[in-house]
Amino acid sequence: MSKTAIIYGSTTGNTENAANQLAGLLEADIIDVSTKPEEALTKYENLIFGTSTWGAGDLQDDWEDFISNVESADLSGKVVAIFGLGDSSSNPDTFVGGMGSIYEVVKDKGCKIVGSVETESYDFDESTAVLDGKFIGLALDEENQGDLSDERITRWVEQISKDLH
Ligand SMILES: Cc1cc2nc3c(=O)[nH]c(=O)nc-3n(C[C@H](O)[C@H](O)[C@H](O)COP(=O)(O)O)c2cc1C
Repeated sequence: MSKTAIIYGSTTGNTENAANQLAGLLEADIIDVSTKPEEALTKYENLIFGTSTWGAGDLQDDWEDFISNVESADLSGKVVAIFGLGDSSSNPDTFVGGMGSIYEVVKDKGCKIVGSVETESYDFDESTAVLDGKFIGLALDEENQGDLSDERITRWVEQISKDLH
């Protein structure tokens, strides 16, 4: 078993693809959040949460059904990183809001949150996933900047690898 789990929610497959790429590079176990993987929240030392954004800045549906488990889990001592998929052109005011929703839940839970990313190469207006001028995790935009995803993923893996247990 890897020390790292990638737990993702994906409706049309974009977040799943990114999760698969990340899992390959990080040698992490990959888990679909629709399986309600409660035990993974205690079992793994590093947790990487991935979600797309639906509605207007909302969590992906399977994540909506599971997020209360994260809320009640003991994450102290764990390292957490978040990635989010969104469409900055159709949703410039709620870009990758799902990632912001996960951050809101984990931010005061005693885990170390790693993997913040500069916003300058993205084109959007507002995002709840931005804190102090940076995304709190990795934002990916398959609709408008899909050609940048591989490089963003590779760079993020290099960045967070140093911080993982
Ligand atoms: C109805 C609908 C609503 C969406 N709302 C948002 C949104 O508020 N913010 C955003 O960044 N992306 C939004 N998106 C874009 C999706 O998050 C994006 O297509 C993502 O890549 C889907 O990933 P998935 O296939 O893993 O679910 C929306 C897409 C649809 C079809």
